[in-house]
Amino acid sequence: MAIKPLVILPDPQLKRVSEPVTTVTPDIRALAADMLDTMYDAPGIGLAAIQIGVAKRVVTIDLAKQDEERSPIVFLNPEITWESEEMALYEEGCLSIPEYYEEVERPAVVKVRYMDLDGKTQEVEVDGLMSTCIQHEIDHLDGVLFIDHLSKLKRDRCIKKFAKQAKERERGA
Ligand code: NI
Repeated sequence: MAIKPLVILPDPQLKRVSEPVTTVTPDIRALAADMLDTMYDAPGIGLAAIQIGVAKRVVTIDLAKQDEERSPIVFLNPEITWESEEMALYEEGCLSIPEYYEEVERPAVVKVRYMDLDGKTQEVEVDGLMSTCIQHEIDHLDGVLFIDHLSKLKRDRCIKKFAKQAKERERGA
């Protein structure tokens, strides 16, 4: 399919709440394929549709390492149905906030219900990196970024830095 340009902070599109997918149409399949192409090209381990400017509740994840076989998962309308009280701390990054990393605390284990590309409902329990990653991506569907989990001071500093970079890009273009 195609590698799409990434939406970068502070683009207001990242604040949009995405719309549910009602049926798996060819357009949705094409969107998922574009998202995977864009994610692998970046490279990244997770992507939400809004990060390529499409406000649909579609998430792609592949945690396979560079030297491992690809194992993509496409989640349509993913939602957390259960979360553990136990929390886990992971250093997170985001393709929409390039080269910025901070530790975020989230529930260690979650259950996620979603629709697959065959239109079937699935429910999985995930932990470790997959748990962090799916929670990060579901946040995107609701217009929430991982920096929204940081202190106001850190968040403001990050947004300011990226706003300045965006202005410099504009001036250079
Ligand atoms: Ni992200």
